Amino acid sequence: MNDKIKVLIDEETIQNRINELAIEISKDYKNEEIVLICILKGSTYFAIDLSKKLINNDVILDFMKVSSYGNNLESTGNINFNLDTSIDIKNKNVIIVEDIIDTGLTLNFLYNYLKNKDPKTLKICALLDKKERRQKNIHIDYTGFQIKNKFVVGYGLDFDEKYRNLSYIGYIGD
Ligand code: IMP
Ligand code: MG
Repeated sequence: MNDKIKVLIDEETIQNRINELAIEISKDYKNEEIVLICILKGSTYFAIDLSKKLINNDVILDFMKVSSYGNNLESTGNINFNLDTSIDIKNKNVIIVEDIIDTGLTLNFLYNYLKNKDPKTLKICALLDKKERRQKNIHIDYTGFQIKNKFVVGYGLDFDEKYRNLSYIGYIGD
């Protein structure tokens, strides 16, 4: 099954880049506490690996799950909450951890929603950025990799709920 998938970013490259991101984040936050909000399900592998590398900070891990509704395959910007944060983020340093930013509609909504809860700081960390597809202009504070407009799977990202458990990021087709 997996042989139809071509490797775009291998495991070592992903892990090295996450190391670099963790160093950058630790430097920015000094010894302050950080709340990582992992957006389910796609960001789980990334958020967990990143959290393990933030050894100089107290890290609180929280989860949110949202889905865009409407009947097309692309996000519509109309968001349903499936799971909200479990902690009060007022006056906390919050980083939203996303797997991939495509149109930006989901993240634009999430950012504004969390901003309203009065965090001390609110930043965005995305493993992958498909810039050419962007509809909402959002500032990504920490980006893993810029990628072309290809549908990618693996390392948390799915196609029809499959392939999340690949340790690399791959793409289907050519
Ligand atoms: P956006 O609102 O268009 O930015 O939607 C981003 C969400 O769509 C991501 O969090 C992913 O769940 C999903 N997504 C976008 N592109 C891909 C892809 O290439 N592979 C898998 N999921 C994707
Ligand atoms: Mg996602």
